[in-house]
Amino acid sequence: MNEQINAVLRPKSIAVVGASATPGKIGYTVLENLVKEGYNGVIYPINPTATEILGMKVYKSISDVPGPIDAACITIPAKFVSAAVDECGKKGVKGLIIITSGFSEVGDRALEDEIVAKAHSYNMRILGPNIVGTLSNSDKLNASFAPFLPLEGKASLVTQSGALLIAIDAASFTRRVGFDKLVSIGNAADISISDLVTWLDEDASTSCISLYIEGFKDGRAFIEAGKAASKPIIALKSGVSAHGAAAAASHTGSLAGAAKVYSAAFQQAGVIQASDLNNLFDRTLALSLQPPMRGDNLLVLTNGGGVGVLATDAAERYGLPLKFAPADVQAELKKHMPEFGSAKNPVDMTGMAGLEWYHETTKFAYSHPWVDGLVVLYCETAMTNPMEIAQGILTAVEESGIKDKPITVSFVGGERSDKAMRMLVEKGIPAYPAPDIAVNAMGALREYTHLREMVTEGAVAAPKVDSKTAREVIAKARMEGRGALTEIESKQVFAAYGLPVTTTQLARTEDEAVALAKKIGFPIVMKIVSPDILHKSDAGGVKVNVKDEQAVRDNFRTIMANARAYKADADIHGIAIQEMAPWGTEVILGSVNDPTFGPTMMFGLGGIFVEVLKDVTFRVAPVSAGQAARMLGEIRGAPILAGVRGEAPRDRKALSEVLCLYSNMIFDLADEIAESDANPVLVYEEGKGVKVVDARVILKKKA
Ligand code: COA
Repeated sequence: MNEQINAVLRPKSIAVVGASATPGKIGYTVLENLVKEGYNGVIYPINPTATEILGMKVYKSISDVPGPIDAACITIPAKFVSAAVDECGKKGVKGLIIITSGFSEVGDRALEDEIVAKAHSYNMRILGPNIVGTLSNSDKLNASFAPFLPLEGKASLVTQSGALLIAIDAASFTRRVGFDKLVSIGNAADISISDLVTWLDEDASTSCISLYIEGFKDGRAFIEAGKAASKPIIALKSGVSAHGAAAAASHTGSLAGAAKVYSAAFQQAGVIQASDLNNLFDRTLALSLQPPMRGDNLLVLTNGGGVGVLATDAAERYGLPLKFAPADVQAELKKHMPEFGSAKNPVDMTGMAGLEWYHETTKFAYSHPWVDGLVVLYCETAMTNPMEIAQGILTAVEESGIKDKPITVSFVGGERSDKAMRMLVEKGIPAYPAPDIAVNAMGALREYTHLREMVTEGAVAAPKVDSKTAREVIAKARMEGRGALTEIESKQVFAAYGLPVTTTQLARTEDEAVALAKKIGFPIVMKIVSPDILHKSDAGGVKVNVKDEQAVRDNFRTIMANARAYKADADIHGIAIQEMAPWGTEVILGSVNDPTFGPTMMFGLGGIFVEVLKDVTFRVAPVSAGQAARMLGEIRGAPILAGVRGEAPRDRKALSEVLCLYSNMIFDLADEIAESDANPVLVYEEGKGVKVVDARVILKKKA
């Protein structure tokens, strides 16, 4: 475990630099919080003038403190922080919790960089600055100005919003979601979210890592930390829409809504997502209390048809469509319900279900090997006592002795149901006020298994590539002062990375065009090649299905004339003579260099699917074969690739390979390529492969 982060989050001794005797000041509140919660380490208040605060001896300076200090919590104004960091360093403090605001968040990055550099020179790490502080139930540590320690529990939360920490702290009691640690990360100038994920993964008091994220500095470090973690991680990401708009720089960029890129990155990191704050609470509760769901068979028990139907709808929505249980399971369940009940799925014991039926069905269903996860629903009726029902469910679970199968519960009713759910949660069974929430929570437990399977499915294969040729093509374009490659050059780069491009060669003269057309074989496609004409069709610079020598000659002259008319001073390299690929299903590949995650790829069906429907999916490059195959299945137009209305399935295997090769190219050339796309890429019937018909590469601006 990282010793310095240990010293910050679980200090054995803590100094409060800026401890104040004045109630209402943060330096007073932090000290009071440490004392009030019964912190089990040593506290050293530091203040230049005070002698005693809250009955404790005060030290004038950190150097006066007699013993060793693990962490210093800084609550003095920003302009004094740098000097305090020096003093702490000289004293041998291991880590700093800097609550003070007034750094990069107000534009003073220089001051922030200065304190980080100083801290590192003394081998100290910084949490913050601009934070509420850090709290730990297992250490009785409230080194913050949040009012109290949260409800005790097994989840730990890292948040970029300090206000949200305080809100979650209080809400943990009303929402009955317990936390061990709440960590405010503020500007994350030094200790990052990724560092904390890694640290919390090793923390014995944490069973689930919950994150509120506004943005990362290094998205790739986060992906690695997530992949390596052995505990469930759940993230709520905010602020995606504004960022997405800002990123809308090019065709592909405008599709690269950051929300989708973040979702892809979370998936690649094995991180479960929460859709909103409520969902973060609900999913955190389930993930912190229950084991993952290892198979797809979800069984729903209920005493009410309506909640059963709502759960059924939710099950489909959250990727766990209900199936009828096998006949023997149904037969056994049928014994615990009236004639008019249903033993299918949901299992409806009807409103007559009391303690005994709930107990028996829960025990049987939970123990049965067909059932991978159990959701028990209850509507409060006049004939039943919610607490008794809850007790029946709990006893059934305990008697089963099973520990590796998840259960979630929903009681719909009033105060009595609420009390019963509270009891269940205290005993480790997540309980929610609505059936769809209980199913959503189960969905998170299933998602966790899927995500872990994905991140461990094998490394990304590194295909044999000719990066030297690709880099030479790029260097030549740069030498000529160009920021984009021509189609021919783009295809040379693509081909160097193993991508199946259509044969394309440059003809400078009519005779060359004829010779090349004969070599490639009729019919051919002719396209203007000019760095000044990017939209070739608009300029009348494209002719398809050119069938013979005469047509080549005629079209050569027409295209040249059109190009000159379109842009008189265009630098015309010549005309590309290109193999005319037979038509297939049109798809598009694109890439951007995302500011957070670096080279990121997009895939979708071409034409209106991409233009109008924005039916695209993203991944941070490079992608594994499994991820590539998943991308094909993710788009709404997936059935078109699978083959609809009697059409043969498309060559998805070859297409997956192309996705891998393309992702490898943009990853390997990330220092050179700002954006690229392959549009269209034609996909043929199974076994007949894929052709990249057009390709475009825009280079990164270099200083
Ligand atoms: N060592 C020890 N104590 C020092 C000191 C030093 N180098 N320099 C100043 N102090 C003392 C002061 O004398 C004062 O004690 P006093 O009350 O006995 O006079 C105490 O530290 C606090 O300094 P003060 O100048 O009164 O500051 P403040 O309490 O008004 O504000 C902060 C300090 C850190 C709270 C404020 O600058 C700040 O950043 N607030 C925002 C915090 C925040 O919102 N964080 C993010 C949450 S999301």
